[in-house]
Amino acid sequence: MLSLNVNGKTVSVDAEPGTPLLWVLREQVGLTGTKYGCGVAQCGSCSVHIDGQLIRSCVMPVSAVAGKRITTIEGLSADASHPVQKAWVEFDVPQCGYCQSGQIMAAVALLRAKPKPTDKDIDDAMTNICRCGTYQRIRAAIHKAAGTAKGTGNGSVFHVVGDASGTAAIASNGPGRTPAGDA
Ligand code: FES
Ligand code: FES
Repeated sequence: MLSLNVNGKTVSVDAEPGTPLLWVLREQVGLTGTKYGCGVAQCGSCSVHIDGQLIRSCVMPVSAVAGKRITTIEGLSADASHPVQKAWVEFDVPQCGYCQSGQIMAAVALLRAKPKPTDKDIDDAMTNICRCGTYQRIRAAIHKAAGTAKGTGNGSVFHVVGDASGTAAIASNGPGRTPAGDA
């Protein structure tokens, strides 16, 4: 048995030491907000924090995090009131939603390291993949959470990105929805 600290609670799990943390979180701890995408540390859908640091849990052996502080999307706030979660809602960031818990965990880690990120900081740090292409809204929501958004109201998303192509990118997300069967 291994003892883990997940979202401030101590849980005991029966897992082989090399079992990826992602599977332990989902199947033994019952926290399914953290998603499986690629399984090889490429997409970021499995992102969680270990002692405040962003990691990809699909390649993290559970034995390596025993005794450390594990935070999942469920532990970010009790009622989706974290500033990043609120900005995600305000900017209607998710499309199918599958990647978004990982995106939010990455954004929280970014803002912890750089409270006032530039567009470049965001683009450099946010390496998670979104197959729905919500990147422009992700960037805008991060600026909102950081208090670095320019402009006000619904149009601010276009001003924040400082990129004329942003309008087209956002508009193109609408009708081209990806089936949400695996969300
Ligand atoms: S599932 Fe872990 S990075 Fe893709
Ligand atoms: S919203 Fe990112 S994969 Fe669909």
